[in-house]
Amino acid sequence: MLAQPFITPAPPGYEPVPARVLTEISTLPCDLYIWRGPRPVLYAMKGGELRKVIARAQRGMSFLVREIDSDLLRGALAASLPRVLANQHMTPIERSKTAYSIAAKVLTPIFTRENPLDHDGLLLTHQAIDAITLHLVEDDELVWAMVATMQKHLATHTHAINTAVYGIVLARFMQLGPPEAILDVARGGLLHDIGKNRVPRVVLDKPSALDSSEWQVMRGHVKSGHDMIVRALGYRPSYAHIIAEHHERCDGSGYPAGRAGSGIALDSQLVGIVDAFDALTSRRSYRTALSAFEALHVMRVTMRGQFSDELLKEFIRLLGGFNALADGLDDGDQAGVMRVAG
Ligand SMILES: [Fe+2]
Repeated sequence: MLAQPFITPAPPGYEPVPARVLTEISTLPCDLYIWRGPRPVLYAMKGGELRKVIARAQRGMSFLVREIDSDLLRGALAASLPRVLANQHMTPIERSKTAYSIAAKVLTPIFTRENPLDHDGLLLTHQAIDAITLHLVEDDELVWAMVATMQKHLATHTHAINTAVYGIVLARFMQLGPPEAILDVARGGLLHDIGKNRVPRVVLDKPSALDSSEWQVMRGHVKSGHDMIVRALGYRPSYAHIIAEHHERCDGSGYPAGRAGSGIALDSQLVGIVDAFDALTSRRSYRTALSAFEALHVMRVTMRGQFSDELLKEFIRLLGGFNALADGLDDGDQAGVMRVAG
């Protein structure tokens, strides 16, 4: 398993919180602990000024919060995202890394299969991805920094965040429509695979090919994802069709309905492309990650006809732009961009 920088060990009943994700929260929403010796020790109390806490924290330090306080912290983190993304004292890469870590922290519970998808959790998810969307739409520097920051873990939530970010960036590049249209791509991209929480682990993680009944179960994630969202919200949101259609393919070979061409909404097609690309360029239990070049080759040649030529060309043009930008980055940042563009 690859290293997951924002997931560090914690004692039972506690969860880790990297100090850097707290930087734009002014008042502590819950008690903060550190892990010294056999059990966690109280480090700062709820209501304390976080600036002072952070000032005396060592660089790279991780705190703990009690799991029962998790919702309080996630709410404060989601609310702090716009300030992180707009913080001009941080470089675009620092802002991106912090925002990515915050998004991962806020979103993890809804991708945890043990948790039912609840209304408040989903609204918090909307709040976090909308903040990222609105900044990515306006801030050119943040776009490439965010793409460079994307982490290629096996974890479901990193694939979800990556799909949303690629979706936002491609929708913006193609001038898909008003900001609401891009918000739908972002929300739909983030939540496209939420139905996989309903797919048994033995099927989801099977290292060999699925048999026909297992495939049927796997394909069910599309409908169950759509239904989970509608149930949690109490209405059908404007991005629900993206979840329902993200495996439809232009040549009619997709599922669940086998729709073709313009029968599939443009934003669903767009999410279908970036979902496939991020999946191919991420390591899976049954194969290594493809380079961006290899992934695009597979999508253009092996999967010929499945994606709209026009959309795929736009995506390739977009990634080519990142490749050019990579020349101007330092080594650490370049690794991230080249992973995407080369
Ligand atoms: Fe999917």
